[in-house]
This record gives sequence, structure tokens and C-alpha cells, in this order.
Amino acid sequence: MLIKKVGHVKKPIGIFDSGLGGLTVFKEVRRLLPKEDIVYFGDTARVPYGTKSQETIKRFAGEISSYFKSINVKAVVVACNTVSSLALDEVKKNSKVPVIGVIKPGAIEAAGASKKGKIAVIGTEATVKSKAYETELKKINPYFKVIQKACPLFVPIVEEGWAGKKISFEIAKEYLKDLKKENPETLILGCTHYPMLLKEINSILPDVKIINSAESVAKFLIDELSVEGFLEQKGKGKNYFYVSDAPEKFSKLAFSLLKIKAKKVLIKRF
Ligand code: DGL
Repeated sequence: MLIKKVGHVKKPIGIFDSGLGGLTVFKEVRRLLPKEDIVYFGDTARVPYGTKSQETIKRFAGEISSYFKSINVKAVVVACNTVSSLALDEVKKNSKVPVIGVIKPGAIEAAGASKKGKIAVIGTEATVKSKAYETELKKINPYFKVIQKACPLFVPIVEEGWAGKKISFEIAKEYLKDLKKENPETLILGCTHYPMLLKEINSILPDVKIINSAESVAKFLIDELSVEGFLEQKGKGKNYFYVSDAPEKFSKLAFSLLKIKAKKVLIKRF
């Protein structure tokens, strides 16, 4: 059991994403760490990140991590796969606290679940182009066969609140038809928004093991905070939600998609 330092001031965990998709990670962190304060930032004014250049993504990531530094977070969770793939170093450079991205936890989980070693990855164009998952998976086992597919329309479908509608099933069918032929054993949801399209994905690939790294990310975070002696021991954690645009829409979708009550959502612009 860790002993809380005398005079210790409660500091929040900072989680960010390009929009509301990172709430899938927030939800797991909140579930596993009920005593922690969490600040969530969704860059709703500039979503999607997945179609932008590395230079731009690095700039956004730098701005958000500087903001987190200014509010004194004790750890940064980069819930966005695109930022984790292309700008994790930028966030680390800007932060003096532990930084957890989503690629490594997802890759480790997928590797553990793949006996035959045929792993599919779906993500944004930028994540797929970066080959971040493939690189991480091949560090674990160079013989893994990794198949990738970018699904750029999945993010706007979710942000538009269209998950579960007929059109989203049709788009999923189109994107996943080639992957289906490859018959992968495991599928990494390499984008925070994709767990909200689980029904669509399952309807096309019913036998594949789906890897949603949100829980592994939360466990990685617990390990980091334990090592530093930074885990909160008392009290009930508070949630603080910030977005760069349209707070009402964020609040509405957070509840309808994930049953997260984000009644007070404030604006933070860059
Ligand atoms: N949140 C981003 C990710 O996980 C996807 C959304 C976007 O393109 O901004 O990759």
C-alpha cells in the first residue's frame, strides 16, 4: 500500500483526444481509478486529426500538452491513436509527467490474443500510414502478419451521432470487405471512435477477436502512477470536461453513446 505524501496536493490526470472518441478511454480510467480527478479535453473544433499532416498533428499535440502542463496534471493519457502514432514524442518532450499512448497497450493485448499471428488493424488514414501498430507488433514478434485498413468515414459517422444507423452498417461493409477475405484472428480498433461502431464491425466480422485497448491503457496508467507513488488513496474523483467547440453537442453524444454524464462542459480554445 502506498503512503500518500504529507502536504500532497491532489492533481488531476489529463486525457485528450481529437473529439469525443477518447471518452472510451476516459470511461475505463474512471472505472478503474474512481478516486482520481480527471480532466478530459476533446479538440472538437479541429477534429478529425486523422486526415491531417504529421506537422499539424504535432502542433495540436504540443498545444494541448502545454495546456495540461499549465494546469499541473500528474499524468497525460494520449487517448487519440493518431496522436499516439505520430506525435507521442512531442507530448513527451512537452511533459514532465508520465505520458501514456494507446498504441503499445493495444499491440501488447492483440499479441497476447493472437495465437496464429494474423492481426488486422483499422484506424484513421494517418495512423495506418504511420504503421505504428505494425512496428509495435513486430517488436513483439517479427513473424506477425499485420493487415491494415484506413476507415476515414467512421469518425464523422460517430461525431455525427450516426452509429447504429443503416448507413453506418453499409459503410462498415464496404471498408471491411477486403479484411473479411483475409480472415484475421484479431482486429485492433486503432481509433478511439471505433468502439462505438462495434455492432457494425461485428456484423461484418463476427468471429474476429476485437481488441479495444481502452482497458489496457487504464492499466498502464495505474502501473505508471503506482511506480511514481502518485495514486490517490482517498475521496471520490471529479470529472472536468473541456472541448474547443460545441460543448452541448459533446455533452449530448457523451450520454447517448456512452452514458457518460458530462453536464458541465467548458470551452478551451487554442
Ligand atoms: N481520435 C482519433 C484516433 O483515435 C480519431 C479521430 C480523428 O481522426 O481525429 O485516431
